Amino acid sequence: MADAQDVLSLCKRRGFLYPSFEIYGGVAGMYDYGPLGTALKNNIIEIWRRLYTLGEGFVEIDSETIGPEVVFKASGHVDEFADKMVKCKACEEPYRADHLVKDLHPNAGALGEKEIDDLIRSNNVVCPACGGELSTVEEFNLMFKTIIGPGSGRVGYMRPETAQGIFVNFPNLYRYNREKLPLGVIQVGRGYRNEISPRQGIIRLREFNMMECELFVDPEDKTWPRFGDVSSETLRLLANDGRELEITVGDAVEQGVICNQVLAYFMWFTQEFLKAVGVDGERLRFRQHEKEEMAHYAADCWDAESFLSYGWTEIVGIADRGCWDLSRHANFSGVEMTSFKRFDEPREVERDRIKPRYDKLGPMYKAKAGKIGKAMEEADPAAIADGAITVEVDGERIAIPGELFDVARVKEKVSGVRSVPHVIEPSHGLDRIIYTVLEHAYSQKDDQTVMRLSPTVAPIKVGVFPLMARDELDDMAMDLDQELRYGGIETYYDDSGSIGRRYARMDEVGTPFCITVDYRTREDGTVTLRERDTSSQIRVRFADVLNVVRAALCGADLTQFVVEE
Ligand code: GLY
Repeated sequence: MADAQDVLSLCKRRGFLYPSFEIYGGVAGMYDYGPLGTALKNNIIEIWRRLYTLGEGFVEIDSETIGPEVVFKASGHVDEFADKMVKCKACEEPYRADHLVKDLHPNAGALGEKEIDDLIRSNNVVCPACGGELSTVEEFNLMFKTIIGPGSGRVGYMRPETAQGIFVNFPNLYRYNREKLPLGVIQVGRGYRNEISPRQGIIRLREFNMMECELFVDPEDKTWPRFGDVSSETLRLLANDGRELEITVGDAVEQGVICNQVLAYFMWFTQEFLKAVGVDGERLRFRQHEKEEMAHYAADCWDAESFLSYGWTEIVGIADRGCWDLSRHANFSGVEMTSFKRFDEPREVERDRIKPRYDKLGPMYKAKAGKIGKAMEEADPAAIADGAITVEVDGERIAIPGELFDVARVKEKVSGVRSVPHVIEPSHGLDRIIYTVLEHAYSQKDDQTVMRLSPTVAPIKVGVFPLMARDELDDMAMDLDQELRYGGIETYYDDSGSIGRRYARMDEVGTPFCITVDYRTREDGTVTLRERDTSSQIRVRFADVLNVVRAALCGADLTQFVVEE
């Protein structure tokens, strides 16, 4: 298996990743993407985006990365979004407390403060850096706080997830979707978490990239139209009751291992996306969160985990967030966050209604009695408090005592029902996916590193070389390079060093194909096309190259293009 240090050092040397602010000594948990890393990242985003928008018909938005405090009070992050920390009493180095005891418990992330503290004391765990005694475990909030506007201004926070930008826009998006569910909304962007002690390359970053989907569904109907198409596909699951299962999507729902079709469908969808960008299916599983481990908003959650040199690592979280977010934002903003489900036929329902006693309202409220009575008829009996119902008439709030109304059970025809939608959320840690793709692609062949990146995500698709940088071979290769680039294919022109060295340079950055213009090109107009993983070569016509490359990138059979030796 690849070693993380080898992968990270190749990434730095070849322009995938650079530690941020390196000339000033760097900052833990901060990395910049170099030219090849940026291209790889964009390719992965584009595949993801197209699967959700073109494949599922979801819409994409782009919301602010800073928000006012009330948003994150409502979301629960200001009060709940914390990790457990200990500090060394001698050198003051901070640590994630659960990480220090991970070898002492099968799921240390699910433990409470006291349990971790007990493990630290009973096992004599000390500071890994200096051997000093550790402080007691405390909570550390991960939110980055800021001020919006000059002076003391208003408190704001950098968003810890892109999701809240979607939730606060629910009324707009629901209207945009012509008031229909399901409504799927995706967003790609930065999130910020003030991690206690980030150490593992780009696995745990303080500023990180996310691809999130918030899917709003009818709380009474968590079926999915295309579920039948995937029900015989297999998932590898580690359930929170300890069972390890290779199980079909259909059986997992039928047996109650995954709680509903929508969650199960998007677990499968996530698996297909991850495999499409180059995550090795043999090193991929879904692990269900323990109840205590679940985020404050989640009713159920499965992590897609990839196996890396760091061990099993969460790369996507697929959560059923229930009605947590919309209900909280409705409470904090006073804005209704509901959807309306129209019945096929109006239905007769029984419900309680307030019946004003007009014989008593008239003498008491005179000219206003009519308006007050109407407001009472529309009020919800559930709002009766201390025997009175409060109504608003002409801007005035009036508490009407119980002797002025009755509550009666009535039969009514209703055309539909209003409810707070539930949210299913596949949330992707993009940097972790990128790292997984890089580590799973990393291989050695004859003492050379070969990055076996899938052609769909490879930053450079074709290396273009003249055998010699003279005798018109360079001019022909440059023409070919330009034709490919104008045809939308990323190329890398290289005429320096031996041809073997040039192939090796391309192998090391995952370029799937190389084309060489040689002396035979001048005679019969053919070039060689070399495939990275097999090193095999075919000859094809110079004039066909754009079509050949397009076919090769799709994995098509190239026999029809091959020119006999
Ligand atoms: N939105 C999912 C997360 O914050 O991890």
